[in-house]
Amino acid sequence: MARAPFRRRRRLQKNKKCFLVTDSNVYELYGGLIEQTFGSIPRYILPAGEENKTFEHLGEILAAMGEAGLLRTSTLIAMGGGVVGDIGGLAAALYMRGIKCIQIPTTLLAQVDSSVGGKTAVDMANVKNLVGTFYQPEIVLVDPLFLRTLPGREIKCGLGEIVKYTALDAEIYRELLKHKENLFDLSFLAEITPLCIDHKANVVRKDERETGLRKSLNMGHTTGHAIELYDKKRSHGEYVLIGLWYETQIAMKMGLCREDYGKSLQELVTKLIGEVPPIEEEALAAARMDKKNESAGTVTFIAPILKGVFDVVKLPYEEYRQAVFSAMEERK
Ligand code: NAD
Ligand code: GLY
Repeated sequence: MARAPFRRRRRLQKNKKCFLVTDSNVYELYGGLIEQTFGSIPRYILPAGEENKTFEHLGEILAAMGEAGLLRTSTLIAMGGGVVGDIGGLAAALYMRGIKCIQIPTTLLAQVDSSVGGKTAVDMANVKNLVGTFYQPEIVLVDPLFLRTLPGREIKCGLGEIVKYTALDAEIYRELLKHKENLFDLSFLAEITPLCIDHKANVVRKDERETGLRKSLNMGHTTGHAIELYDKKRSHGEYVLIGLWYETQIAMKMGLCREDYGKSLQELVTKLIGEVPPIEEEALAAARMDKKNESAGTVTFIAPILKGVFDVVKLPYEEYRQAVFSAMEERK
């Protein structure tokens, strides 16, 4: 897998321009590999961090693509974590109404989730992914060797999304429990990644535009995104884990989720991030803007029920708020 970019080079550069989007950390680590693989193709190096997944940087990327003389036949290569994949994918979708996009995900989160399925976006007006498109990449090149340089905290962040998959897919649940003492091992991650990609690709094939089934991939995200926007101290995957803990607790309280199963999911969460933190009242308000909501004043979240079984729950905001606060009391 590691050599795939080399094999594609000749074809990509034959008569069409390529443009690379990456971030400052990835460029520092892999600048040499990029030169070796793609040569001196035009590029935009985004400062690393979620705070840069903005419309302003998107504009700069598009302007740089124009200045580089990209045509409709050109290809954008987004090489990095979910931030680069999301903003790079959106630039590819918008430039001349859409050019080809190749995703080379370099974080665990991007490999198991964000690079697959075609969601692209930037954040705006303090709402995560407010502006974006569904735009499928031509190719996703996943190489687990990129994970060798990924800090433990970022591995944990990707494990957040993998724990989400355990609630949706009985096989992933079994694999994760089998390896729960060596979750950080590269060999385990290399094994579980294709299972996650397969799960997601199957869901996206059935419901690309998230009218139903795809909402399941947002388990833990309603509450997780709300606190992520307010708190901004942790990474996306950690907020997903916190959201998953709370939404599981609410689902158990509502009698939807089987207690033994719910508790095993919550155990995986606390094994990774320790005791989940309390949630500030102001943070929760953002759940009213969640993209899964279908009517004003109602909050939608995905409740785990049993291994591989879930439900879409819609609660009036006030009920959701109270349920989160009761769950907070029940944390210990
Ligand atoms: P990220 O892109 O910010 O990457 C995390 C950090 O790791 C950054 O500092 C980055 O520079 C660094 N990094 C990347 N690759 C590295 C490597 N190989 N070695 C060392 N450091 C490396 O964050 P992320 O967790 O990858 O992605 C989070 C983003 O993904 C969020 O914006 C979230 O909304 C989005 N997301 C999108 C989807 C989707 O379907 N499109 C799904 C889930 C999450
Ligand atoms: N990460 C959720 C989705 O792609 O739908």
